[in-house]
Amino acid sequence: MELELRVSTSADAARRGAAELLAAAAGRGGHIAVSGGSTPGPAYEVTATLEPDWSRSELWFADERCVEPLDERSNYRLVRERLLERLEGGPAVEHRIRGELAAERAADEYERELQGVVLDLVLLGIGADGHTASLFPNDPVLREESRRAVAVRRPDVDRITLTLPVLRGAGTVIFLAVGAEKADAVRRAFAEPPSPATPASLVRSSSGITYAFLDREAAGAVEN
Ligand code: 6PG
Repeated sequence: MELELRVSTSADAARRGAAELLAAAAGRGGHIAVSGGSTPGPAYEVTATLEPDWSRSELWFADERCVEPLDERSNYRLVRERLLERLEGGPAVEHRIRGELAAERAADEYERELQGVVLDLVLLGIGADGHTASLFPNDPVLREESRRAVAVRRPDVDRITLTLPVLRGAGTVIFLAVGAEKADAVRRAFAEPPSPATPASLVRSSSGITYAFLDREAAGAVEN
């Protein structure tokens, strides 16, 4: 399992590095999964400029909140505004997670849609607590081995997430994290032994390369 840390001098440069790989994957075509959060929006905009034709790709989501698709908390909405609306040729299929449904039902639907699918690339973020997608520290869903998508109960709004086997099965895994508030989680994810206390440490592509695009601040506790 190959891990490559790419540390940039700025957050924009880290985002551009991730965008270049995402755009190249979209150009090749295949199954591509993306994430929400505040970090990747500008990277999606750069991606759309680098590769405006996604017609050879199918778009998937690493996770989603149980909200309507146009809710400001929706990952679909983020990706639509920052990526999809900027493309000249949209993805052949958009596999939106139906966050407007109850979490279990949306997870079951997504699970069915994912049958037989191997992701070519997944772009993930890292939370300050070490979560990634909607895999939170020490959550029992980290032990899920058979399902591809599961419901996750959260105090604010429930979520649906891809599971570890699907993420590990991706040909390329890209993490994108910027800012000093991520430094400890980044250290635990990439410089410590894997642990359910830091779900991002458990996600490595089993067949390909796992990249972490970081700015200096996020990498601050990793580099010496
Ligand atoms: C989401 C994500 C989540 C995110 C991290 C980092 O929808 O929120 O998929 O895993 O990547 O929470 O989020 P930030 O980019 O906002 O720090």
